[in-house]
Amino acid sequence: APLRFTVGGAKQPVVPGKSLANLLVYGSEQGGVQRANPTLLTKKGQVVEVALNNGMPEPTIIHWHGLLVDGKTDGGPQLSIPQGGEYRYRFEVRNRAGMYWYHPHPHATAARQAYSGLAGLFFVDDDEEQAVREKLGLELGDNDLPLVIQDKRIDADGQLVYRPTDEEWKGGYLGNEVLVNLTVAPLLKATPRWYRLRMLNGSTARIFNLAFFHGERDLPFDVIGTDSGLLRRAQTAKRAFLSPGERLDVLVNLAQVPAGQFVMLKSLAFDPMHQEGGHAGHGGSGAAINWPDGAEIPLLKIAVDGAAVSTPAPLPNVLSRFDDIKVSNAKIRPWKLGWNGKDWLLNGKTFQMSEVAATVRRNDVEIWELQNESQGMPHPMHIHGFVFQVVSRQDSPKQQGELAVDRTGRSASDLGWKDTVLVWPGETVRVAIDFNHPHAGAQTFMFHCHNLEHEDKGMMVNFRVA
Ligand code: C2O
Ligand code: CU
Ligand code: CU
Repeated sequence: APLRFTVGGAKQPVVPGKSLANLLVYGSEQGGVQRANPTLLTKKGQVVEVALNNGMPEPTIIHWHGLLVDGKTDGGPQLSIPQGGEYRYRFEVRNRAGMYWYHPHPHATAARQAYSGLAGLFFVDDDEEQAVREKLGLELGDNDLPLVIQDKRIDADGQLVYRPTDEEWKGGYLGNEVLVNLTVAPLLKATPRWYRLRMLNGSTARIFNLAFFHGERDLPFDVIGTDSGLLRRAQTAKRAFLSPGERLDVLVNLAQVPAGQFVMLKSLAFDPMHQEGGHAGHGGSGAAINWPDGAEIPLLKIAVDGAAVSTPAPLPNVLSRFDDIKVSNAKIRPWKLGWNGKDWLLNGKTFQMSEVAATVRRNDVEIWELQNESQGMPHPMHIHGFVFQVVSRQDSPKQQGELAVDRTGRSASDLGWKDTVLVWPGETVRVAIDFNHPHAGAQTFMFHCHNLEHEDKGMMVNFRVA
């Protein structure tokens, strides 16, 4: 029998002041009872069956973010079902092991529905990933923890508010609280050992500049994976940007922290680069914004206590088999990210449901060149149906450029398989995509900005692989 997802009737998902005890609980509150959206644990090769039942008085559809599924399973806006409707999914999990997620994708209301709690995690496991976990003594839900980081706007009554002004449709909607796993001011009780934290930025618009601190001292971490699974080898970093839709998989050594002390996961201050003409910041809807865009924000307090756990085996030199996409002879397809004074645009156009903006030949490798104008704002660009590799970053702003680990301009978090990549104003990011797929016939997918206000306002295209 398929797993049944019934959506609707949900109250606001915010649970202020609770600890992270129920760390895997990530859901909405229904009838006063905390009710989690399912976290799906799957294995590569497994067939997943889900029946979506829409109990909301508006259309919806669930999209499997990052999963390599066919166009009819992908859950784009064209597939939305009305109230009372049902949509059945049946697909084989073809992805590498990793932390993926699902969220709604109806036309123009994806941001509000996702913001209101319709989102969850989708794990894929495989042999390679299992071997790494065993080697490091990692246990999902114990010392291998998903962290869903999201800002939310919560009013004085503890209710969630989603009411973007025109300015916020343009700049993105920011919350007055930043939650981890739907918890305000979260606290994680940890033992002195290595922890694996798998972070998802599930915000609609806010970008995080992640770093760990022990007092005044930063605590470097090892990036071991990105959106679509493990890197070839670990890459040490002191900070990393995480934009909406992206995931980052890191190891942090809490054994170097004396018992009884704290580590803080923070977002460090950065320049949010809102350079779109006349944009005057956020803060509409009468809610005070505790955290302006780019402010330093404490995200998660980690209390380290207890006896040190015996040092684990060292990180394997090679974490995963990792084939580079061969880009010689790849066609370069430019995508201009722009603003016309009214809408955000891709190659000069706003989303048309029935229009196909690009047709790609099946089995071709292409380089998509994402060119962001300098008078814009950062855009986390996301592709459906495929994953990609970042080839290079050019003309990056200083805060991104100084994270470069090699001459391509890529940072540690650009080194893995990805489905979402942040493109700063003035920057050009090249990604390689292999359009080989096993599905019968031509397939249509979406390519869009994962600032979900931008996505809902048309910074999205259909592309076809024929
Ligand atoms: Cu996570 Cu088209 O989206
Ligand atoms: Cu997606
Ligand atoms: Cu955008």
